[in-house]
Amino acid sequence: MCQLKADKFYVTTPIYYVNDQPHIGHAYTTILADVLARYYRSLDVPTFFLTGTDEHGQKVQRAAEEHGMTPREQCDVTVVRFMELWRELEITNDKFIRTTDEGHKEVVREAMQDLYDRDLIYRAEYRGCYCVPCERFFSIRDLKDGRCPECLREVAAITESNYFFRMSRYQEWLIKYIESHPNFIMPAFRANETLGFLRQPLNDLCVSRPKSRLSWGIELPFDSDYVCYVWFDALINYISGAGWKRNDEMFRCWWPTSCHLIGKDILTTHTVYWPIMLKAMGLEMPETIFAHGWWLTGREKMSKSRGNAINPMEMIKKYGVDAFRYFLMSEMSLGQDASFTEEAFVSRYNSDLANDLGNLLSRVVKMTLRYNSGIIPQPGLVTDEENTLNLMAANAVTGMENALRDMKLEQGIEAVMNAVRAGNRYLEKTAPWTLAKQGNHERLNTVLYTTANALRKVATLLHPVMPGKMNELRRALGIPEEQLEKCSITDLNQSTNSLTNLVMQDIDALFPRIREE
Ligand code: ME8
Ligand code: MG
Repeated sequence: MCQLKADKFYVTTPIYYVNDQPHIGHAYTTILADVLARYYRSLDVPTFFLTGTDEHGQKVQRAAEEHGMTPREQCDVTVVRFMELWRELEITNDKFIRTTDEGHKEVVREAMQDLYDRDLIYRAEYRGCYCVPCERFFSIRDLKDGRCPECLREVAAITESNYFFRMSRYQEWLIKYIESHPNFIMPAFRANETLGFLRQPLNDLCVSRPKSRLSWGIELPFDSDYVCYVWFDALINYISGAGWKRNDEMFRCWWPTSCHLIGKDILTTHTVYWPIMLKAMGLEMPETIFAHGWWLTGREKMSKSRGNAINPMEMIKKYGVDAFRYFLMSEMSLGQDASFTEEAFVSRYNSDLANDLGNLLSRVVKMTLRYNSGIIPQPGLVTDEENTLNLMAANAVTGMENALRDMKLEQGIEAVMNAVRAGNRYLEKTAPWTLAKQGNHERLNTVLYTTANALRKVATLLHPVMPGKMNELRRALGIPEEQLEKCSITDLNQSTNSLTNLVMQDIDALFPRIREE
C-alpha cells in the first residue's frame, strides 16, 4: 500500500455514528489507525491522523427521539464517549472532526452548490425503498427477498421529489480506475467485490432528504426544503478535515489520503460513492481504501443494533489498555473476520505477553542485576548462538516493515514474537546462570548484552501497539528518560546505538499472569 519511505502519511478512520456508545469494532479501527500512524511517525514520515463522528441523519435523529433529547444534545452527550474512549486507548489522532462543526457544514454546502452549478446535481421524482439503519436507498430490483440487500432488515417504500448526483456518468471511468490501480482497494478480493457491484448499471445517487421527513442534516444551499444525504455529508469529512477550501497549504500537504481504513460494511460508499464524488469535484484519488473484516460475537457481527457488543472500557479496566490493543492487533488477520472471546484474550495474553515477552524481560533484568549490578556489559566474542538470535531480531525488523507495506500487521507482530521466543530459547541454550557459576564472565557478558539488545529491538517494534508497556520495558533496560519519547525504527539498525553501560532497573512483572477461570 503506502510506501514506507513516503514523504507523508495521511490515515483516516470512518467517522462513527453518535446514535450509541462505541464498542470493540470502533475501537479496533481506531487502534489500527493509531498503530499505523505511530509506525509512520517512528519511521520519520510526517503523519496526519484524522478521526471523528458522523452526527447527522435519520439514525441519530431517531436515537435522540428515543432518549428524549434534541439531536444536538444526543450528539454532544455521545461524542464525549468516543473522545473519552480514544483518550483511554491512547489514540494519537491529530484532529477530531464532528460533522456538526460549522466549518465542515460550510464546506459541504460549497461542494454541493458547485456540483449543482455544474449540473452534476439535478432534481427528479424518486420511487424506491429506504433502509433506515443503513441510511441508504435501494430500488425494488436491489432488494433481497423484499429486504435490505446489505443488512436484511425491513425497508420502507418511498415516493418523493429529490436531488440526485450524476453518479452513473462515472461508472466506466471508475471500473477502469480500479482495474488499473491494484492498491486502490485492498485487500484485492474487496476490489473484486466492488467490480462485481459495478457490473450492474449504476444509479444516480439521491443526495437530499426532504425536511418533512428528516430535519437533522445540512440544509441544501440551493433548496431550503431539503437537507443533505448523511453519507454525502460524512464522506466529505476526509477533505474538510484536511483543510480543503480553507487551508490550501495544509490540504496540499496531506491530500490525497494514504489510507482510508474502513470496515467491510461500508465498502460501497467508500469505493463507489466517494471516488466518484472526488472525481466530480476534480480531486485526486486516495492511494488506498483498506477494508478490514468484522469482529464477531459467536458467528454474528458485533453491533450496537444487534445488542451483542462488548464494551471496550470494561476490557481496558480489567486487563489494561496495552494488552487490549495487543490482542486486537494480533488476533485479527487484517481483512478477515475474527471472533472476540474473553477466553481467547486470556489465552493469548498469557502465552505471548506473560510467558514469552514478560518472562524474557524479567530473566534478563534479574540476571543483570545479580551478576553485574544491573550494568549492561560490553559483549565479548559472538558465536553461532548470538548470530541466530541477532538474525531473528533482524527478521523481526524486516518482518514488521513488510507487514506495514502489505497491510498484514498481525504477521509483523508474529515476526517480533518469534524473536522473543528465540530469546527465551537462547537463554536456555547458553545458560547464563551456569556461566556465572563457572566464572566465565566474558561469555556471560555476551549473553546478557545480546538478550538485552534483542529486547530493545522488540520494544521499539511493539511500541506503536503497546506504547505504555514498551516504555516500561525500555525504562527497565536503562534507556534514559529523554530517549523514551523518541522510539525510532530507523535507528534500530544503527550499530552506534550501544546499550553498554546503561543501568537496568528492577521491574515487577510487566504482564502478570491472568488466572484462567
Ligand atoms: O458506518 N467489527 O458508522 P458506524 C469491526 N458513520 N469493525 C467494526 C464493527 C465490527 N463488528 N462494527 C463497527 C458508519 N466497526 C458511518 C461511517 S465514514 C465517512 C461514515 C467499525 O458507527 C468499522 O470501521 O456504523 C465500521 O466500518 C465502522 O465501525 C462503522 O461505524
Ligand atoms: Mg454501522
